[in-house]
Amino acid sequence: MKHVKDAWNEDYIKRGRLWGGTRHSIPDLPKGCRILELGCGNGTTLSGLLKHRYELVAIDFSDEATQISKKIVDKNPCTDVIVADARQLPFATRSFDAIIAFHIVGHMLKDCRELVIRDSIRVLRKGGQLFFRDFSVNDMRAGSGVRVEPDTYCRGLGIFTHYFDENEVLSLFAQLNVQSLTSNRWTMRIHGKNVVRAEIVAFFSK
Ligand SMILES: C[S@@+](CC[C@H](N)C(=O)[O-])C[C@H]1O[C@@H](n2cnc3c(N)ncnc32)[C@H](O)[C@@H]1O
Repeated sequence: MKHVKDAWNEDYIKRGRLWGGTRHSIPDLPKGCRILELGCGNGTTLSGLLKHRYELVAIDFSDEATQISKKIVDKNPCTDVIVADARQLPFATRSFDAIIAFHIVGHMLKDCRELVIRDSIRVLRKGGQLFFRDFSVNDMRAGSGVRVEPDTYCRGLGIFTHYFDENEVLSLFAQLNVQSLTSNRWTMRIHGKNVVRAEIVAFFSK
């Protein structure tokens, strides 16, 4: 099977803007706050953060994705988009006030998910906040594709998607304090049919 990074690159080249979901908001944070976005993709979440006066650093291991995101943040002096792997963050310990991990951790196998969480906690300062969002086991896509690990499926070019349950999210972030955890469901119309999308949204502090 091809390297996961190559699968993402290929998908971005093929489909351009891959992820066109809504811009997920996070609670307002103080001006000047240093925020790290993990797996910024084509910049959907990032673009929603630009209007705030945050110092933003966004990483993605896909060169293609970072090229797209760089165009979005062009001319924004407080934003850096870097090609980097979230499993080994090239940042100093306790150097961020907040971390956004939206739909990235769920695109990894178990050992990688653990590495990403461990390194995210390392770079988060004490009192810092971490925002998590990923698909849940109730999502309409859970179970489709080739099963590679429990609740984890490989679809298309070689991209994994893991579907979480609430307890699993809590245990993954057990080193942090839970501020909130919600399961969201909404209906979408795809090819004339109503389908259920479901995700877990959680907010932690260190
Ligand atoms: C669904 S997209 C994320 C969208 C984005 N977070 C947003 O809210 O708009 C997932 C992204 O995670 C990136 N990714 C997956 N594994 C990664 C890793 N180990 N390090 C960095 N980026 C990774 C992929 O390249 C892809 O662009």
